[in-house]
Amino acid sequence: MAEKIIIDTDPGQDDALAILLALASPELEVLGITAAAGNVPLALTSKNIRKICELAGRPDMAVHAGCSQPMSGALVTAEYVHGETGMDGAELPEPTMPLQALHGVDFIIETLRREPAGTVTLCTLGPLTNLGKALTRAPEIAGRIRRIVLMGGGLFEGGNITPAAEFNIYVDPQAATLVFGCGAPIVMMPLDVTHKVLTTRARIAAIRALGSQVGHVAAGWLEYFERFDEAKYGTDGGPLHDPNVIAYLLKPELYGGRHCNVEIETESELTKGMTVADWWGVSGRPKNAFFVRDVDADGFFSLLTERLSRLGRNDAAEQPKLRLV
Ligand code: BDR
Ligand code: CA
Repeated sequence: MAEKIIIDTDPGQDDALAILLALASPELEVLGITAAAGNVPLALTSKNIRKICELAGRPDMAVHAGCSQPMSGALVTAEYVHGETGMDGAELPEPTMPLQALHGVDFIIETLRREPAGTVTLCTLGPLTNLGKALTRAPEIAGRIRRIVLMGGGLFEGGNITPAAEFNIYVDPQAATLVFGCGAPIVMMPLDVTHKVLTTRARIAAIRALGSQVGHVAAGWLEYFERFDEAKYGTDGGPLHDPNVIAYLLKPELYGGRHCNVEIETESELTKGMTVADWWGVSGRPKNAFFVRDVDADGFFSLLTERLSRLGRNDAAEQPKLRLV
């Protein structure tokens, strides 16, 4: 039976690839997608999700707008990485599918209450505000979550928005504290693993060579997205973060890591948003997360490219309204 998932996301080109990967995969049943504020403000992320769903030929998907601000402090965005739209690199038409009336936080709570306990996985690809709010309002849902698989944090690699902090955790460390403390099983995809998943020229060429609209758009997004990190790290290609969350659900054998304690720094000016991961087990604190550190990057890109090839095979017939701008 397909694994039921909710995707909470702030697209973001890498979020977009993660959503496409999920929608292309029959092993997963996407119950709905909730928009987080992060890479760009909520109005844009909730629009971008609908553009992605329409690109994937899924205008029926339930998309819910979540919180526009972190649980504390002001929203920090990352247009300098993702562009003004959040998805610069390929332009898609304005979406025509609706946003659902139900708030994203209520959708998370209601879905977890409705579905049998232990059957719904939360996939978070942005700041953890929506899940943090849901856990605050309805703490009992923690016991009903099958698992949380999240992109966020870093230990050996350090941070990407500050020397110590990764963007998704830095934007809302209070929400991250609630999530890491909620007691549900957590799998964490930190920078330590995503920095091993590089969008090399050859890998992007393989996606473009699919010859479909999806392949063309995905390659355009990736080429835009990698320019910032290529300049920063001096690598052929930039890290592709968020699709690892979905790939882990599909092929966990591509990944390696260990269970350890992870706590979030919320106070220090210097290290706010740092994921203090006890990799060596020196603290004696309870192990609350599976910290992923290793990946078969070629295996990951084979999976991603093959799954993208399944989308829009019959573009002309299935998506008559979709036109590239
Ligand atoms: C994370 O921050 C965003 O820029 C990406 O979408 C990813 O979720 C990486 O730090
Ligand atoms: Ca993201």
